[in-house]
Amino acid sequence: MWISLRRILLAFSFIFITLFITGCNTSHTTNVVNTVSDLHINQTSLLESEDLLIIAHRGASAYAPEHTLVSYKLAKELGADYIEIDLQMTKDGHLVAMHDDTVDRTTNSEGKVSNFTLAELKKLDAGSWFNEELPEYANPDFENLKVPTLREIFEEFGHDVNYYIETKNPDQYTNMESALLSLLDEFGLLDETVEPGKVLIQSFSEKSLRTIHEMEPSLSLVQLQTQKEAKKATKKTFKKISEYAVAVGPNYKAIDEDYVKKATDAGLHVHPFTVDDPQEIEQLENWGVAGVFTNYTDIYEKLAKVRF
Ligand code: G3P
Ligand code: CA
Repeated sequence: MWISLRRILLAFSFIFITLFITGCNTSHTTNVVNTVSDLHINQTSLLESEDLLIIAHRGASAYAPEHTLVSYKLAKELGADYIEIDLQMTKDGHLVAMHDDTVDRTTNSEGKVSNFTLAELKKLDAGSWFNEELPEYANPDFENLKVPTLREIFEEFGHDVNYYIETKNPDQYTNMESALLSLLDEFGLLDETVEPGKVLIQSFSEKSLRTIHEMEPSLSLVQLQTQKEAKKATKKTFKKISEYAVAVGPNYKAIDEDYVKKATDAGLHVHPFTVDDPQEIEQLENWGVAGVFTNYTDIYEKLAKVRF
């Protein structure tokens, strides 16, 4: 499991975080980082990787305000296999990166995202809350960060990262799925030449995933499961999911070795969320999960401390 690539990432991750938090010289960081990212991109397969996939949950959200470009850039620098993006939709139909369907928790305003136009949303400060909540990682540069659109994220990263995108609250929005597919298409992320698994679409909504599967059968989909859903999952559940998805994303607190076996026997990868404890990650890996969502993109460094 521990191939040299991971060791390289271990060596670099501590340096990256230190430089980032202390306000490093960007151009220097980018040069070093490209070397690491290139190694990742050159893996022959994404979902079939022998290494545990590290999915940067809301970006490197332990260290920077979730769902901001800064958080995604740091996740890339730390060598994440995927950047995870939750989607909401503005009043005027723009897909934006935000977890909640209100702006209350992560901006300096309040109200439903669907009641804001993009121009109105762009006036909000999506970073200062982090400095107040997590003074340990507070940074003046986080003040007044903006909510990014999915378009801006694609413009920033293009094909240089792998995307793990969630349709959030799809029942609240009109045509969220077609807006997403249209944007993926515009940025060439649905092209035949794109490596399978480069874009994963996840949702708690089976309906949303089935809609996407019908519109774009080649896209790899992930059925998320709440604790309650994961606990009651049976062989039949996994067989049904395998009709349209390639993986399940259960709340990790609800699963055990038997769950992982049943899912993998049905041909599904297992990507539990959201795991920030290295020892719990190690246990999940021993059970056979293929990847984990984590807020600590540098979790391998933490795992190494446990193992060595
Ligand atoms: O997408 C996996 C995980 O992110 C689901 O939980 O609430 O953080 O979106 P949540
Ligand atoms: Ca999510």
